[in-house]
Amino acid sequence: MDTKELTKKYIMNTYGRFDLTLVKGEDCFLYDENGKKYLDFASGIAVNNLGYGNKAVEDAVISQVKKLIHTSNYFYTEPQAKLAEKLCVNSFADKVFFCNSGAESVEGAIKLARIYAGKFSKRGYKVIAMQNSFHGRTFGALSATGQDKYHSGFEPLLNGFEHVKFNDLESIEKLIKGENGKDYCAVILEPVQGEGGVNISDKEYLKALRNLTAQNDISLIFDEVQAGLGRTGKLFAYMHYGVEPDIMTLAKPLAGGLPIGAVLANEKTAKAFEPGNHATTFGGGPLVTAAAAAFFDEITKEGFLDEVVNTGEYVNEALNGLKSKFSGLIKDVRSIGLISAIEFYSIKSKDIAVKLIDEGFLTTTVQDTVLRLTPPLIIKKNHVDLLMDAIVKILEGYK
Ligand SMILES: Cc1ncc(COP(=O)(O)O)c(C=O)c1O
Repeated sequence: MDTKELTKKYIMNTYGRFDLTLVKGEDCFLYDENGKKYLDFASGIAVNNLGYGNKAVEDAVISQVKKLIHTSNYFYTEPQAKLAEKLCVNSFADKVFFCNSGAESVEGAIKLARIYAGKFSKRGYKVIAMQNSFHGRTFGALSATGQDKYHSGFEPLLNGFEHVKFNDLESIEKLIKGENGKDYCAVILEPVQGEGGVNISDKEYLKALRNLTAQNDISLIFDEVQAGLGRTGKLFAYMHYGVEPDIMTLAKPLAGGLPIGAVLANEKTAKAFEPGNHATTFGGGPLVTAAAAAFFDEITKEGFLDEVVNTGEYVNEALNGLKSKFSGLIKDVRSIGLISAIEFYSIKSKDIAVKLIDEGFLTTTVQDTVLRLTPPLIIKKNHVDLLMDAIVKILEGYK
């Protein structure tokens, strides 16, 4: 049996896969089993921010594999400590908890907010989350996720999550200042909603939300699993806004493609966790943290993020050009740094993604009619031109 047949026979049927088997990656390109080359605007769902074959990450992995892959958190290991230092020195955070995925980082963030509330702020256990959000598939993260399609079939979800409109302060104020306002211990949101369709929060909204949560000692959690670590052109998305959260979640690109998650928090909040409160066997293991330190050094090199901003602006201009040219087909384009969306009126984004595969480009779809572009952050302007030409060619067929 070939790979596709084996997959269909032995792997649970939870993914709608494209009809493509990938075998190799190099720079911003992927290759299928027949040697066909694809320009990558997906990055393994916003993970491969340095593309494929980054030398620093590869060297760090190879060197650490030979020394120590795993030992557990009963012991100290240097790569974990050094990565935590890098993350804290370069962000609002004072402390980190390492885990293995985005969903787990959200679980950790919610647990931290709840234990902080129980010990210090004396508030209730409820969490305000956003409609259209995505936080992962485990029960806590799924309950925080504000999209019914992910809940269906798994109810009842966890108690205590209230979903409000994104970018709408009033609906949060109403809950917090309402009769049962003391029930709420946290607000969780993605400063840039990824899976929701690349929806970008307003500056004034986040500022006012920060004030409101600080005044009431409610933990503000930013989920930067997708938008953090250079994706938006700043090291962290919150840096566009001049506000700092109490807790932030990271995952996807952090270890250069290896599985990792992290919960970052300020001292005030982090001190609520004590030994025994939270744990994971693999979290922050030496292999992934060594890879992550190398990844982090690459994206914090002088000029790296300036280049992301520069290419991001180029993508933004190109997308706006596309929208003017196909105003009858494209409803909206949204973009910040190198995460962008093309929203069609009625064309199914999946159809465009499949046609783009034929043309040699990989993209992802986030909603029925929204195509998302999350290329490696090392993508060049000529790569962007190639994609735009292919999209134009495809959309001409819909006119
Ligand atoms: C903002 C956000 N949070 C959490 C997650 C869940 O991450 P994971 O799939 O690693 O569990 C995702 C995944 O897409 C995400 O985009």
